[in-house]
Amino acid sequence: MAARPVSPDRRRSPLTPALSAEGRGSNAACDLAHTTVAHALAAAQQRGLPRIDAQMLLLHVLGRAMHDRAWLIAHDGDALAPEAAARFDALCARRLRGEPVAYLTGTKAFHGLTLHVDARVLDPRDDTETLVDWALDLLPADRPARVLDLGTGSGAIALALAAARPRADVWAVDASADALAVARANGQRLGLVVTWHHGHWLAPVAGQRFDVIVSNPPYIAEGDPHLAALAHEPRVALASGHDGLRDLRAICAAAPAHLTPGGWLLLEHGHDQAAAVRTLLRAAGLDHVQSRRDLAGIERCSGGQMTTGTAPRPSAQ
Ligand SMILES: C[S@@+](CC[C@H](N)C(=O)[O-])C[C@H]1O[C@@H](n2cnc3c(N)ncnc32)[C@H](O)[C@@H]1O
Repeated sequence: MAARPVSPDRRRSPLTPALSAEGRGSNAACDLAHTTVAHALAAAQQRGLPRIDAQMLLLHVLGRAMHDRAWLIAHDGDALAPEAAARFDALCARRLRGEPVAYLTGTKAFHGLTLHVDARVLDPRDDTETLVDWALDLLPADRPARVLDLGTGSGAIALALAAARPRADVWAVDASADALAVARANGQRLGLVVTWHHGHWLAPVAGQRFDVIVSNPPYIAEGDPHLAALAHEPRVALASGHDGLRDLRAICAAAPAHLTPGGWLLLEHGHDQAAAVRTLLRAAGLDHVQSRRDLAGIERCSGGQMTTGTAPRPSAQ
């Protein structure tokens, strides 16, 4: 059978997993006999795993760094020990059932950081680096600034900003205590200082103002069929009301009152939500409302600036 590498459908959502429908649920085992590095990778691809996923799982099993794919090429004729082949086979089966590679390896590279992730948090997506880069464009490296990350999950955005802007005072909020435990542990391991808060969007930061507020909130509609393929990730990180905009509305309504004069609110959203989010940002009293495209050319983030310096009028719900 020919290999069937399948790319993520970014046009639909950055949260769409990189697996074909045929691949999910397959339990066909790798042929463990005569297993070399090359054979094991080829067998995994024949079962429907994208090559990159198979490579990362094999590197994990072999205890090698996730970026060491050149090692696999240089050692493709090496025999795999039976235990390693069996572990690789089991991980392939879990991946084929839809578990993210990051959960299986326990790590995810994000904006130059290696984060520890598991099923308590969203698997951070590459597209979210667009939001981080936009925030960094607004945050001077040579001056202090106050930054807030709403719905921090693994801490990906907050920690990337803290790493790149050591003078910034970075705060982060999540409604999930489990997610905050992952984020805190990442911060401690990476030696990065973030002030973590548990609660509903802006509620834990009453009275505080920030120069930049960023958020990658849940933005998939409750009835979206793609949710089924994301069943391994926390529902609270994904689904947001009947139209996917419930949390974006809540943040647009509450965040402007927490911006300093000249401060920016930057939001990640779904591939087809840019116009709706720009409308919410304008209704919230923000100016210079605009969107940014991700690496696939899709309007993935929208933001606006508090130019008045006065408390904004409440936004439309
Ligand atoms: C799409 S995930 C983003 C995680 C992380 N920022 C990232 O980009 O990988 C959304 C996060 O928002 C959190 N969340 C959902 N509802 C929330 C609420 N009402 N208040 C605060 N956080 C919330 C979820 O627990 C989840 O961690």
